[in-house]
Amino acid sequence: MDEPKSTNITASESAVTRAQREALMGHRGVTVWFTGLSASGKTTVAALVDAMLTARGIHCAILDGDNIRHGLNRDLGFSPADRAENIRRIGEVAKLFTQAGLVTLVAFISPYRRDRDAARTIQAKGDFLEVYLDSPVEVCEARDPRGLYRKARAGEIPEFTGVSAPYEAPLKPELVLYTASETPEESAQRVVAYLEKQGYLSAP
Ligand code: ADX
Repeated sequence: MDEPKSTNITASESAVTRAQREALMGHRGVTVWFTGLSASGKTTVAALVDAMLTARGIHCAILDGDNIRHGLNRDLGFSPADRAENIRRIGEVAKLFTQAGLVTLVAFISPYRRDRDAARTIQAKGDFLEVYLDSPVEVCEARDPRGLYRKARAGEIPEFTGVSAPYEAPLKPELVLYTASETPEESAQRVVAYLEKQGYLSAP
């Protein structure tokens, strides 16, 4: 990890413990990091998980690439360096949300393994779950809800993931969703079932 640019800074800790926050929430804080190609279903599945958990009284937050790039990360493009910075910032935001006790649903392509690994490394063990939306590029391209693959093939979008920029699949994700063969509801249900089974949906 790079050293901060600023000097003479001292980190402080709140008197409120993580356990107190989780007792108040009634469940654990965790980052659920969805990664996969454009149109693999990240936004759709994250929104369904959000709705399912919220209906059960679980506090969630969503961080979605297409939204965050309109605000916090509006200064970033799609070069490898900009994507790394995109993921670094969101990894830090996810950590803050998780420590605040939220089930934090992150939906970014996050194509580079080292950027995702860095986002995992800054969190405590068990606080970061990687969920890979495994859908072949041909399926994503056939869906092409916003015509981006078509534009990318026509050379109108440079460095487009899966076409002219790489996607590195996770090596050991906590969960794999086969979004080409499962419905979004089935995929979302599997995420909720995983969280339930691993004890994330109740206070420790
Ligand atoms: S990431 O690679 O840095 O993680 P992020 O998830 O924030 O990407 O943004 C991806 C979204 O940006 C896509 O869903 C798509 O709508 C849009 N987009 C625009 N240009 C590109 C591009 N060159 N590659 C991938 N997605 C792009």
